[in-house]
Amino acid sequence: MAKTGVSLVITICALIYPVHLLDNGLAQTPTMGWLHWERFLCNVDCVNDPHNCISEQLYMQMADIMVQEGWKEAGYEYVCIDDCWLAQERDAQDRLQPDPTRFPSGIKKLADYVHSKGLKLGIYQDVGNLTCAGYPGSHGYYDLDAETFADWGVDLLKFDGCNFGTLDILVEGYKNMSRALNATGRNILYSCEWPLYLWPFHQPNYTDIRQYCNHWRNYGDVYDSWQSVKSIIDWTAIHQNLIVPVAGPGGWNDPDMLVIGNYGLSWDQQVSQMAMWVIMAAPLLMSNDLRSIDPKSKMLLQNKHLIAISQDPLGRQGYRIGRVNSFDVWERPLSGGRYAFAVLNRQEIGGPRQFPLLLATLPSWKTCHPECRVTQILPSYQDLGVQNLFSTLKLTINPSGTILFTVTLNEGLAAEQKWNWNRNMNKKRKTPNSVF
Ligand SMILES: *[C@@H]1O[C@H](CO)[C@@H](O)[C@H](O)[C@H]1NC(C)=O
Ligand SMILES: *[C@@H]1O[C@H](CO)[C@@H](O)[C@H](O)[C@H]1NC(C)=O
Ligand SMILES: *[C@@H]1O[C@H](CO)[C@@H](O)[C@H](O)[C@H]1NC(C)=O
Ligand SMILES: *[C@@H]1O[C@H](CO)[C@@H](O)[C@H](O)[C@H]1NC(C)=O
Repeated sequence: MAKTGVSLVITICALIYPVHLLDNGLAQTPTMGWLHWERFLCNVDCVNDPHNCISEQLYMQMADIMVQEGWKEAGYEYVCIDDCWLAQERDAQDRLQPDPTRFPSGIKKLADYVHSKGLKLGIYQDVGNLTCAGYPGSHGYYDLDAETFADWGVDLLKFDGCNFGTLDILVEGYKNMSRALNATGRNILYSCEWPLYLWPFHQPNYTDIRQYCNHWRNYGDVYDSWQSVKSIIDWTAIHQNLIVPVAGPGGWNDPDMLVIGNYGLSWDQQVSQMAMWVIMAAPLLMSNDLRSIDPKSKMLLQNKHLIAISQDPLGRQGYRIGRVNSFDVWERPLSGGRYAFAVLNRQEIGGPRQFPLLLATLPSWKTCHPECRVTQILPSYQDLGVQNLFSTLKLTINPSGTILFTVTLNEGLAAEQKWNWNRNMNKKRKTPNSVF
């Protein structure tokens, strides 16, 4: 900073939390799990592509691997079905039913299986007459569908907004489904897309949304590309004064799935997506193939330091504090007076670039007074030692890569020094033949 002669523009986010929150006790920290959409889309061709089609097999295999390969232990809990699980028609009692050839055992059996692994099952429906892929929607059947999901033992509902009809139906539909889920008496996490479908018409009322949903999508679907991930990060920064204050335990902004471990992101871009999703207190719903994921991507997704930041009990979403020479600087306040910082190098030409960061220029500079401990988490773990306000961190960041680090007030060290000083003073007093 000192070198570049620029200073961070400090954005002050209001710290006023809405009083009324969705009171179902769920999503006290951002949801973690796996969701099929980005990777498997609406692949219903189990004849030619049995390994990758939307079938009970796919979720059972993911559940198995989540237990065997450390995903569950790392905190990933929900195995989530997206669109295209339904049969084309409701049954004779108007109940939803899964496609009989792809889900021959039924959803209840699948939920039992997932629960037997100590995991939870998520399912998908839509507020309108039809889902996005054209299967029967929930409009007119909110109570019945909520009861059906509860009977089956479903633990999460992703409620899409395609074919919503009128804006009144959209908003009322999301609210009615929230009430219907509550009325079942079963804990069902409620994942909404309500603001995403409102934005083309007017600014959504997030205070309202926060009372009905555990998380909510604001922006379009993530694709397996840096362009897409970057556009989500930028949208979030541009709207942060509106959306950051409403996030907190029980309700989160949802920037959509993690696409780490697929085809479109370079290693540095995978690091950037993980870093930014953690800073944004985003649900960590992976959409990838856990059966064949690259070991490096797996290590990134299971990194316990990152997951600890994601799941920090303070539950505050991070925000962008500055943009300098194509570097974006974000911070997220953590419990215990700690902070996480991410510096993203947005320049997509040339090689690694240096970013000298003077700690005194951070809005949270007090954390480094008198001293702070700086720990780099990404791209690799590294203790950056004890620093003070006048320290300049010399960060070198790859194109489209991110450095993530935490800053902790070094109370321990400050206390130790004080104690040493006192002890020396006492020694001086007690030792008669001291040279002093
Ligand atoms: C339903 O809502 C009430 C009141 O907000 C809450 O106390 C209760 O825990 C909720 N139940 C479920 C199953 O979400
Ligand atoms: C659903 O279809 C019915 C009958 O065509 C129509 O009256 C209603 O407005 C539609 N609702 C939505 C949400 O599209
Ligand atoms: C929501 O529920 C209310 C009260 O039962 C009902 O009047 C209204 O039509 C419902 N809206 C939708 C979109 O289902
Ligand atoms: C937003 O929703 C809340 C809660 O329903 C309500 O009290 C408030 O008046 C709404 N704000 C606007 C601008 O409509």
